[in-house]
Amino acid sequence: MLVIVRDEYESVSKTAAQLLAGKIRRKPNLVLGLATGSTPLGLYKELIRMHEEDDLDFSNVVTFNLDEYIGLPPEHDQSYYYFMKANLFDHININLSNVHVPKGMFGEIEINDLYVDPKIDEFCQWYENRISHFGGIDVQVLGIGSNGHIAFNEPGSSLGSRTRVKTLTKLTKVDNSRFFEKMEDVPRYAITMGIGTIMDAKEIIMLASGEGKADAVSASVEGPITAMCPASMLQIHRKSFTIIDTPAASKLAAEFVTYS
Ligand code: GLP
Repeated sequence: MLVIVRDEYESVSKTAAQLLAGKIRRKPNLVLGLATGSTPLGLYKELIRMHEEDDLDFSNVVTFNLDEYIGLPPEHDQSYYYFMKANLFDHININLSNVHVPKGMFGEIEINDLYVDPKIDEFCQWYENRISHFGGIDVQVLGIGSNGHIAFNEPGSSLGSRTRVKTLTKLTKVDNSRFFEKMEDVPRYAITMGIGTIMDAKEIIMLASGEGKADAVSASVEGPITAMCPASMLQIHRKSFTIIDTPAASKLAAEFVTYS
């Protein structure tokens, strides 16, 4: 794992964008795994700038998003599909037929903590097959939850898990409630790539910014590999980059090089 500490969020975003842009230029049909949340916003802004000013071409890039809330239609302004369109896809020359965001709506379905409608399982299998059809994910972008989750793989998630339904923890719902009018509007369930799906990506770039992520980053980089911190699995990935700002790095014990 290569840990890169930058002095501010903007440099984190630019470092990640430069890494990704280099990969897209070398392989125009790159299969790119994408994340939502506030953290990758700076990266997406920089990729848009590179598209507009430096001719970065997305026309053959294929994307797979990590997750989606169950129960939100794509046009809902808090759905991850909407987020991706508003913050990236609408501003670059990506072909929307190359874009994949897990589906959140399944018509009439039954779902509770013990029972998941087979329609959802079928979709999850299709999503996994679709990733394989494109030869697997070349680079996966990740954020990290304040509880160490990646995508919606909450603490306790199976380390070998594949795309499936997860029940969101209270902390994640509280963290994400800032985007909804009221707490009750935050969905209870999500479809998410599993930890095993993420680990199959050939490269991973995890981003984190701010003191609020310092504990999760320290558990992920220096803690034991445990299902209680899903991001800790990145320690055994063959090629992962953790790009963080100084506040997010503030609880790391080891000395990492800070680039300004
Ligand atoms: C959500 C997403 C994760 C993301 C996390 C952190 O729960 N499912 O993919 O990494 O939030 O979000 P933020 O970057 O806003 O802190």
